[in-house]
Amino acid sequence: MRALGIESSCDETSAAVIDDDRILGESVVSQIDLHRVYGGVVPELASRQHLSAIEPVVTEALARAGVRPADLDVVCVTQGPGLVGALLVGLSFAKAFAWRHRLPWVPVNHLLGHVWANALWGWQPRFPVLALIVSGGHTDLVCLRGPAPDAVDVLGRTRDDAAGEAFDKVARMLDLPYPGGPAIERLAEAGRADAVALPAVGRLRGSLDMSFSGLKTAVYDRLRGSDPPAAADVAAAFQHTVAQELTARVVQAVALTGIDTVLLAGGVAANTALRSALDGAAAARGFRVHAPPTRLCTDNGAMVARAGIAAWDAGIRGSAGLEPVPILEQFRWRPPRPAAG
Ligand code: KG4
Ligand code: ZN
Repeated sequence: MRALGIESSCDETSAAVIDDDRILGESVVSQIDLHRVYGGVVPELASRQHLSAIEPVVTEALARAGVRPADLDVVCVTQGPGLVGALLVGLSFAKAFAWRHRLPWVPVNHLLGHVWANALWGWQPRFPVLALIVSGGHTDLVCLRGPAPDAVDVLGRTRDDAAGEAFDKVARMLDLPYPGGPAIERLAEAGRADAVALPAVGRLRGSLDMSFSGLKTAVYDRLRGSDPPAAADVAAAFQHTVAQELTARVVQAVALTGIDTVLLAGGVAANTALRSALDGAAAARGFRVHAPPTRLCTDNGAMVARAGIAAWDAGIRGSAGLEPVPILEQFRWRPPRPAAG
């Protein structure tokens, strides 16, 4: 099935054409340089930038794929979650494009896009499967019971900051540029994780939920203390703590559910320390971890196209009245059963 995917939920305008699990052509315009001076994404600037980028990005993706609009089977677009103005640009463009070319279209949950990126990189969809979604706005440990967008149970999630948000805020404390994740990862290479004692990520008794705000505050306190540690050591210790705690949650979820495959998804999934911590746990405990390459972990149109095909197969269809949903609550809150504290 030939699908055009359009993504505009945050600070990347991106489009891609895929044929089932194969990427035929992609185009991305990143706004990172635009927002960097402000230390984070400025929503109104993002919307305006999407507006000028969306048409050239879609045209370029089609050209690179060597595909005409008439050769497409479906147009897939992110409906949410994300910044409402940014989402509106992609959604309005997709509706108009589909109408102009007499194509059907399908709304996509951005978080499921991240999960389905795995199918573009060798994951053969089999269910149930666990997924750790770690992005700038979300940290959800979920179970996909099947391919349909509403067959997702949340086993645990962050009660405050998302993991990516914590990376971005700690990076700011260390005077590193936005986005913080890659900057912390680079700086951490020169540091020692055991040189700075940080508290574990908040563990909530009887739950797989997480909390990153205490860790963030601990970093802040250490940096403002009388004898502040070296920035590289702080970066290494912070990254190590996040990786260990996310891995501990995944191990717990595997043990509770008996499901032996975990998909890694979202921008933070690009983090090498997290990937190796999970790989180590998987090798020791006999479960499998699947992760896309870095370029498919951050926001992209191909993941939206692939999640769109799954949604299409599940009978989801777009209609003129559908609007962007900044907080898209499609997942069902259903912890497996109380976890050991
Ligand atoms: O999924 P994504 O591209 O956008 C959202 O949907 O939020 O994730 C962006 C987040 C940012 O917080 C960024 O700092 C983080 O992913 N990130 C990383 C890395 N690359 C991106 N965090 C840790 N290590 C990385 N290598
Ligand atoms: Zn994302």
